[in-house]
Amino acid sequence: MADVPPGVKGMNDILPPEVWKWQFLEQQARDVLESFAYGELRTPVLEYTPLFVRSVGEVTDVVEKQMYTFDDRDGRSVSLRPEGTASAVRAYVENAQWNKEPITRWYYIGPMFRHERAQRGRLRQFFQVGAEVFGASEPSIDAEMIAMLVSMLVRFGLDAGAIEVAVNSLGEPEEREAYRQKLVSYFSAHRDRLDDDSRRRLETNPLRILDSKNPDVIAVAAGAPKLIDELGEGSRARFARVRSLLDALGVKHAIDPGLVRGLDYYTGTIFEIKTKAGELGSQNTVAGGGRYDRLVASLGGQSTPAIGFALGIERALLAIPDTAESYEPALAVFFAPMDAAALDFALPIALRLRDKGIRTEIEHRPGKTGKMLGRASKLRARAAVIIGGNEIASGKLTVKDLANGTQSEVAVADLEALIRKLLD
Ligand code: HAM
Repeated sequence: MADVPPGVKGMNDILPPEVWKWQFLEQQARDVLESFAYGELRTPVLEYTPLFVRSVGEVTDVVEKQMYTFDDRDGRSVSLRPEGTASAVRAYVENAQWNKEPITRWYYIGPMFRHERAQRGRLRQFFQVGAEVFGASEPSIDAEMIAMLVSMLVRFGLDAGAIEVAVNSLGEPEEREAYRQKLVSYFSAHRDRLDDDSRRRLETNPLRILDSKNPDVIAVAAGAPKLIDELGEGSRARFARVRSLLDALGVKHAIDPGLVRGLDYYTGTIFEIKTKAGELGSQNTVAGGGRYDRLVASLGGQSTPAIGFALGIERALLAIPDTAESYEPALAVFFAPMDAAALDFALPIALRLRDKGIRTEIEHRPGKTGKMLGRASKLRARAAVIIGGNEIASGKLTVKDLANGTQSEVAVADLEALIRKLLD
């Protein structure tokens, strides 16, 4: 037999039963976001490359090493989106959304693409639930968003005690520039202890050295000046207000002075959520985000403050304790026709139930009742409808309650009501 060409590395098929857990998570996410009055935004997965270079940043891992970038047939460079914020901002600017409403709340659910080293919880096509709020600079928005994210994780079934919220503030770009200079002098004095990547970053993006995963660099970074100590009065007061609002909302959190985030557009509050739950291992950051008050203007829009987050669906799924099978939608009715005439009789009845939204399966290969009932149980049907010559002659169907094994007879016209009663 010929070999099937394999799927692309780091990109998965998602089949039942796994997909039921996905659907559950997505539905919970939508419910939470819609209760906070967000509307869904759908953007293309492909964008012209400069959008990401100018927003995510030229000297970031995402842009330098991870994007799927190629020329399309018109010779223009396009990239599969590595994240959703850039596209949301593009859509916001192209639609001059600030003219339509003072505050815009958008969310999205969809695939993102990064050519990373694939491992558990780290894929090349992965899915995010993300949200962006444009037009509000108040600290209460920051706190509300973080609290919403925690609620969402709890709704997914994560243990609240296993959710760790880390926050930090990057301050204003001007403050960050002063800090950057301090950091460069500090790391330059310890140049011999840096790795090649960090030495390069010393020239290009020294804050990212704080984000290094190399234990030697982490040891040097531990002694570095802290950004939070270098911020001006205004930024510090704002951050303190975000934190006190989080306390008021009951959101436990800690400052992580080394938190810098891997994308360049951030200003002010940034945050990440990790969890100790489930099978995540080292890739245990389930969500991250922050404020990006300068990005809309830098992409040509009217100056608009903004904040957002994205949550990694695969990682959240690994953290949810229940198995995929437990999210299987229950089958309401299984029709078991004993012969071809019974199948003909059953088909329109089953169709009517399905029209009413009742999840119904029908055996298209009539056979022994016992065998058919076995299938009904395997599919976890609530009831089986057995149809043979007697049923056709009398117009009464035999309904077997598969929870307790009792059987009853019901007129065709009353079947729906009986099924609904059983499902209640
Ligand atoms: P990010 O931190 O790059 O932020 O990604 C957010 C989340 O996506 C991560 O915490 C992680 O759960 C998941 N994720 C990232 N890369 C992968 C991967 N290769 N495999 C599996 N999961 C992954 C952003 O993307 C920003 N756009 C968030 C944001 C929105 N900031 C403001 N608005």
